[in-house]
Amino acid sequence: FVSTVALVSAQDFPKGPVTMLVPFAAGGPTDVVARLVARVMEKELGQPVLVENATGAGGTLASGRLARATPDGQTILLHHMGITTSATLYRKLAYDPKTAFGFVGQVTTVPMLLVSRPNFEPADFKALLAYIKDNKDKVSLANAGPGAVSHICGMLFMQLTGVKLTTVPYKGTGPAMTDTIGGQVDLLCDQTTGATGPVKTHKVKAYATATAERIPVLPDVPTAAELGLKGFEVGVWHGMYVPAGTPAPVIDKLNAALKAALHDPETVRRFAELGTAPVSDAEATPEGLKAKYFAEIDRWAPIIKAAGEYAD
Ligand code: MLT
Repeated sequence: FVSTVALVSAQDFPKGPVTMLVPFAAGGPTDVVARLVARVMEKELGQPVLVENATGAGGTLASGRLARATPDGQTILLHHMGITTSATLYRKLAYDPKTAFGFVGQVTTVPMLLVSRPNFEPADFKALLAYIKDNKDKVSLANAGPGAVSHICGMLFMQLTGVKLTTVPYKGTGPAMTDTIGGQVDLLCDQTTGATGPVKTHKVKAYATATAERIPVLPDVPTAAELGLKGFEVGVWHGMYVPAGTPAPVIDKLNAALKAALHDPETVRRFAELGTAPVSDAEATPEGLKAKYFAEIDRWAPIIKAAGEYAD
């Protein structure tokens, strides 16, 4: 009986347009990844895939929307690593992160780097570290709210330098980048998906990457470790989720469409241009994402607890 229901659901799926929830603002790195993937998935699924920027509460609002959606594959979520950090960061969530979601597959891995407004005084990273120590009350650091990777990256930077800056939350790093370019905020830690263009066109200054190795698409930007700041590393990744209880055949259809999107030459070209890496076929599976999701919840929990910074 169960398999008949599952078969029927898979045949009928998708019944109409699929809503892809994106937890951050349009034009930001998550949105860019989502729209590139949705463009191919809708051809594969034979129905429009409509990206909806369900912003707020560092991404937990969109996760909550997904958790409450009917588990039929018509509503999916494209979220990054923040879905696992918010499991610890938020004292209270409108869903149980351990049981709320089903898994379609991993989508990308994305490096991060620290940038500033173009006319920010410090000439290089060493000067920046001295400058923020002397001017900590004046320096602002943008992020996309608690649970955003820009928040985690900024938190780590402040922990490692021992300097507490004034953080300015946005609905995504798309608008945060606009304000960094415009000089309204001083510093921003962003993913290459959003930062590569502005760095290459000198609209922002790049101080250091938050990676173990230099980022191939931005070879002139040194790693923080090269410049003496060890441990400043944040590896971002994206995943695609459905509500728990979504039938496996529906997940399989979504997964096939996701894999097609990751192999699509235009996706591969744009990702490469933006320093964004599509994951392997083995990672782009429900099992691959499920393992990553729970491992990352466990990895981040003690780090966040040690930082003692929680969100409500
Ligand atoms: C975004 O898409 O705006 C970012 O992924 C936000 C963030 O987590 O920093």
